Amino acid sequence: MTIAPMNAGPTTAPARPTRWWLGMLERRAEKMREEYLDLSQPIAWSSEEERRAAIKFFNAAFRAEESGLRQAHELAGEVAAWDPDLARTLELYGNEEGWHRELLTEFLEHIGGEVLPMGRVTRTFYRLYARAERMETIVLTNLMFETIGATTYRLALRNVRHPAARSMLTILTRDESFHVPLNVHFLRHILERDPDARRRLRWIFLLLFTSLLALPLASRPKARAFDGIGTRQLARAYAEYLGRLFENEPDLGLRPPRLLLRLLGLTPQELRRTDELSVASAEAAERAADRSATVVTAL
Ligand SMILES: [Fe+2]
Ligand SMILES: [Fe+2]
Repeated sequence: MTIAPMNAGPTTAPARPTRWWLGMLERRAEKMREEYLDLSQPIAWSSEEERRAAIKFFNAAFRAEESGLRQAHELAGEVAAWDPDLARTLELYGNEEGWHRELLTEFLEHIGGEVLPMGRVTRTFYRLYARAERMETIVLTNLMFETIGATTYRLALRNVRHPAARSMLTILTRDESFHVPLNVHFLRHILERDPDARRRLRWIFLLLFTSLLALPLASRPKARAFDGIGTRQLARAYAEYLGRLFENEPDLGLRPPRLLLRLLGLTPQELRRTDELSVASAEAAERAADRSATVVTAL
């Protein structure tokens, strides 16, 4: 699965200042309402099991959007006192998650589903996340959630053939891919402001990394009949994308757990390969940023 703009070649764009992200989000906000899901045709499910799995899949997505929206807007309120541009960037970012939540609500209705109460594992995750108070913990958690979200949508796009579901997944993949480097930008700013934050984050990072890799054990029995992704395949993909993200951003000081990577057949050298763009780079952001020029294709 690749995400690439039309006529894109490799670029060497430097890390971007907040103003760049803000400008990009403002342009995206203008285009946001022009986009819509084509729900004119009912989906021809192969089985009721597939439809139910799709409802579970998009419910998980809905919860991620809901949580992202709330956390981004709360952070915007805190950040406003010391960096109004960064606060506005957080607000617009939260608005994008709010828009995703609206689209998902519409899509769930289309497939005869609704927003369901959270399962035990999901509820535990979000409860812990909602209790996080320190800004660096919230942003790091969000960054890692965005990464596994984008990874799941990207893999699902390889298997899902229903046009309406593909259209929903395409929007989510494209936008969450933009949100990953955006959250790296947020995290960098927060770490710059508080020199002790990096040290505090190390254990939280390892705990999150390990827990997120175990998440497919809970999600696969519910969603696999829709997305066709296996447990080990998804855990390895999470390790790969999370690993690549942090291996290629060494200034964040968060080193992925080597043993865990090796257990899944990944080496740090592989993850630092230069022929693949870092998922957190400004180049990757540019590729995912412009809604009109971005296409998403399955491998
Ligand atoms: Fe989203
Ligand atoms: Fe997002």
